[in-house]
Amino acid sequence: MTLSMGMSAGVAAETGETGDLTFPQGFLWGTATASYQIEGAANEDGRGPSIWDTFSRTPGKVVGGHTGDVACDHYHRYRDDVAMMADLGVQAYRFSIAWPRIQPDGSGPVNPRGLDFYERLVDELHGRGITPIVTLYHWDLPQSLEDRGGWTNRETAERFAEYAAVVYGRLGDRVGTWTTLNEPWCSSFLGYGAGVHAPGRTNPGDAYAAVHHLLLGHGLAVAELRAAGARQVGITLNLAPISGSDPEAVAHIDGLQNRIFLDPVLRGEYPADVVERARRFTDWSFVRDGDLDIIGAPIDLLGVNYYSPTTVELRAGQQANPVHPGSEGIAFVQGDEEKTAMGWSVKPSGLTELLLRLNRDYPGTPLIITENGAAFDDVLADGRVADERRVAFLDGHFRAAHAAIEAGADLRGYLVWSLMDNFEWAEGYAKRFGLVYVDYASQRRVPKDSALWYREVIRRNGVQA
Ligand code: NOJ
Repeated sequence: MTLSMGMSAGVAAETGETGDLTFPQGFLWGTATASYQIEGAANEDGRGPSIWDTFSRTPGKVVGGHTGDVACDHYHRYRDDVAMMADLGVQAYRFSIAWPRIQPDGSGPVNPRGLDFYERLVDELHGRGITPIVTLYHWDLPQSLEDRGGWTNRETAERFAEYAAVVYGRLGDRVGTWTTLNEPWCSSFLGYGAGVHAPGRTNPGDAYAAVHHLLLGHGLAVAELRAAGARQVGITLNLAPISGSDPEAVAHIDGLQNRIFLDPVLRGEYPADVVERARRFTDWSFVRDGDLDIIGAPIDLLGVNYYSPTTVELRAGQQANPVHPGSEGIAFVQGDEEKTAMGWSVKPSGLTELLLRLNRDYPGTPLIITENGAAFDDVLADGRVADERRVAFLDGHFRAAHAAIEAGADLRGYLVWSLMDNFEWAEGYAKRFGLVYVDYASQRRVPKDSALWYREVIRRNGVQA
């Protein structure tokens, strides 16, 4: 099927990659979701409460007071959803496991019905020839662990590794690729620093403690997975190229957004400038001897989530941005690029830049795009969603990824966020990221034009002019 490319010509020109492009043989095309965002069935089969249940029930925290109680009802509809993915020709599916389904209290007794669900899902995927990629933690921390300090408590890292071993014990024979954490930047700085994500705490010192314990949890889980025989283990980070005219401001924000996670995981050390700047919020006493060896153990794959670049400039009197502790005097500026419904700048060349930077500064680790996509104000009319802006967005970013591969980046695959519209955290259901439209009242799924276009991309292993 051929669709009009809308604005893609302009986007393609921005990355310098035009015409027909083919990806390397074996390049993996897929989609991604996360448990709390799609599953619903919040009180079924022994699932315990998570911090997102608590947070979304707290008045004023989520737009419209929405919760993940029902979401896309995927827990009951997973068979149809997998069939829908097969229809789209999707080769890989990244989903997350809800820790509170596996250990309702975050530790101790295992709930077999939780494991049963993911086993059924994985078997269904295999039955349709789709490769499962598991994320062990996509933000739904068991509430009882938060009650004991959550990610500010070192114990949570140890519990996470135990949970990882439990999940591997059941699914390890049929899942090849494992991701420990999704976007620990969000869990720490949005959840514990700025308070705009669960658990809603607003203490920068807590955010740094959470960073460290999340990373320690990652490292301990990698050790457990390896010991149990896992073949491909990684972590997913939300990374962004940072630009601006003041090198110190750029380094500051690059440190907080990118290097604070990349350096410990891929070099076994925290960046010295980040440690120094954070001293007004924390004495880092939560870092113990040996932790960085655990955190820096080799991984097989780095998951990259890219949405938008960041531009900063010095501005006298500028208050700190709550999501970047200590950023007084630094303004976050936006150019006149197209914006998505989230207000995020559309800049595919930022993806090329990011992938090449990873290749240069952290060589030797294969990369996979574990998320990229966009929210737009989609309209279902006469059974169709004509989302030409999403087509243009994806076309531009696929071209940007291709440019990075041509320039030497070791990029193995591309997972579009998201398979279907879902619970967009603090934005509730208002923002639609899906390739497939979800009519929440009826739970009907309608593949958008972008889904049909993506099917062609996958079939050809490339994009067309
Ligand atoms: C990153 C997160 O991993 C995902 O859960 C979220 O929905 C998307 N970005 C879009 O904001």
